[in-house]
Amino acid sequence: MYSTAFLDIPPLASAQGTVVLPGSKSISNRVLLLAALCEGRTTLYDVLDSDDTRVMLAALKQLGCVLEQVGHTVHIQGLGGHFKLGSPLVQLFMGNAGTAMRPLTAALALLGVGEGHQVELSGVPRMHERPIADLVDALRQLGCQMEYLGQPGYPPLRIAQPHLNLQRPIQVRGDVSSQFLTALLMALPLVAKQDITLEVVGELISKPYIDITLKLLQRFGVEVQRHHWERFVIPAGSRLQSPGTLHVEADASSASYFIALGGLAATPEDPLRIEGVGEHSIQGDIRFIEAARQMGVQVVSGTNWLEVCRPSALAKQPLKALDMDCNHIPDAAMTLAVMALYANGPTTLRNIASWRVKETDRIAAMASECRKLGATVHEGPDWIEVHPLREAAQWQRASIHTYDDHRVAMCFSLAAFNPAGLPVRIEDPKCVAKTFPDYFETLFSVVQNQAVQVPVICIDGPTASGKGTLASQVAQQLGYHYLDSGALYRVTAFAAVQAGMPLETENEARIALLAETLPVRFVGEQVLLSGMDVTEAIRSETGGMNASKVSALPAVRQALVALQLSFAKLPGLVADGRDMGTVIFPASPLKVYLTASAEKRAQRRHKQLISKGNTAILANLRADLEARDLRDSTRLVAPLTPAQDALQLDNSDLSIEASVQQVLTWWQSKQAFKSSLEV
Ligand code: DC
Repeated sequence: MYSTAFLDIPPLASAQGTVVLPGSKSISNRVLLLAALCEGRTTLYDVLDSDDTRVMLAALKQLGCVLEQVGHTVHIQGLGGHFKLGSPLVQLFMGNAGTAMRPLTAALALLGVGEGHQVELSGVPRMHERPIADLVDALRQLGCQMEYLGQPGYPPLRIAQPHLNLQRPIQVRGDVSSQFLTALLMALPLVAKQDITLEVVGELISKPYIDITLKLLQRFGVEVQRHHWERFVIPAGSRLQSPGTLHVEADASSASYFIALGGLAATPEDPLRIEGVGEHSIQGDIRFIEAARQMGVQVVSGTNWLEVCRPSALAKQPLKALDMDCNHIPDAAMTLAVMALYANGPTTLRNIASWRVKETDRIAAMASECRKLGATVHEGPDWIEVHPLREAAQWQRASIHTYDDHRVAMCFSLAAFNPAGLPVRIEDPKCVAKTFPDYFETLFSVVQNQAVQVPVICIDGPTASGKGTLASQVAQQLGYHYLDSGALYRVTAFAAVQAGMPLETENEARIALLAETLPVRFVGEQVLLSGMDVTEAIRSETGGMNASKVSALPAVRQALVALQLSFAKLPGLVADGRDMGTVIFPASPLKVYLTASAEKRAQRRHKQLISKGNTAILANLRADLEARDLRDSTRLVAPLTPAQDALQLDNSDLSIEASVQQVLTWWQSKQAFKSSLEV
């Protein structure tokens, strides 16, 4: 997951390969709750691991549920309808997870928390702005005891033991959020001593989500009778029973980004394959496929997979504009708003009032961010009209604000296919953790940016200038990969010594061969050679001397070129080493040559050695450094010289933070993004 402040997605050109999608959030949180409420033990497979499911799991544990999580598999011992509260007051934190907040509220309010016990449910500030009055009103009709702790109509809530009366039909509004009805449908079977009737007031929105609820209830042994979408009857004597095992489908809403991606950038020869969900999914958002097809995307489906591309006949044409009622695909429809930027006319998405009460006001958010990219957008209470950016010149570099809304972040990554070849900045990329923590990694694994090279920042400088620290911190701030090219020479030397090869010119060819097939892997700070941790060994003074020897052999340098180039992967690379900007990545748009006075460098090295418990004499270190500088800059093979277009950074009197900031400022000036403030 990218936990950086922002992620710059370079301009993208094509997509191919296979993605395996994570489990659906809606299904995961429903089955976690049903498995916890029912009788018997359930094993759930392919459960999504995300912020929202973690919220649910933590709450279930607090309510006395015994569960065990092994990767994406969760074993749950059902509570059989009785919560076991550890203390008189249990406080549950729901984050911004509507799929946990609403059903848990209903389950707690109906099943009861025990005489004299209370449960409080709260969340992040946005959760306290998301209405819940319709659910509370419905529950209060039944004798549930609940209080608002803040603003009436919104969380946080306090729930106490109910005095239930289930004789009369229960009225619940269906036109704000279908989650209220879902919440009641999942909890009521546990108290269905007689038939319980639910009547929907107002036009029910997001019907497909109710359908998911009904299908999953069926799996747990409860057959709800549905009369149109207006009346639901839970038959007397219904019992929630474990199905034993259950597989969670991949998230159909998440599939929408990849369906769009295939439609924008994959060819029939190399379609994009999406695994985990097929066209016959129980999730309503799968009908996004129909909308994508109308826009000109080709989608083929099997039981549990999809293959997507742009048909050859339409290869060079824009997508077809849409005018569509999106009530049945509220979440996936956001993806259509970004696809609309590539269409042949304005696209209008209608009947999407629910967007206004989601993680953020999604109509406002989508409109504002599409405008930032240069588009004309009109919006109404329950609709949005997005005009395409037909000419490359209309596109603008934008820094996309993501409003702590995973879907805003994910769908705007598709703007990186703009014909202007502009990168797109996604602010707070970690918000995708709500449903798809590895979204960007998954995206980068199937997209290519042939048109422009992967952005590479090169950092070099004399020994002990702090270039390694600087380079790795810059990489961290940008979410870029990091190449410590010196480590490759160090590992090569180490491997050669291990193989008994003296590091001399007569062994040049053999050492080069070794370098070419070096089984090296970098895992965080660790360097592994054939799986063995050699981090400490290669960092020794001898390791450095040996590296210096092999790095003077031209065939070895040549042998390591391909390996070094292979580090340039999306979204970008920071490469550290003497010939990064001159030989390996000469097209790099930012080359930094880091220097510091010999005195400062000697002091730093001295401090470093002392802190590791070594003894060292400052004057000797300084003399060594100066000698090495001279050798490095005058040697025949790859002498240490700044690239012609390198920017010099003397960090003698700068902290590491200040040096990092300087490099980021330079990088920023190379690719300025339009931010929210400028719209
Ligand atoms: O940066 P370092 O101290 O880990 O580098 C080890 C040796 O490898 C040092 O002598 C410089 C050399 N080197 C090189 O010749 N070319 C590179 N790209 C990186 C390091």
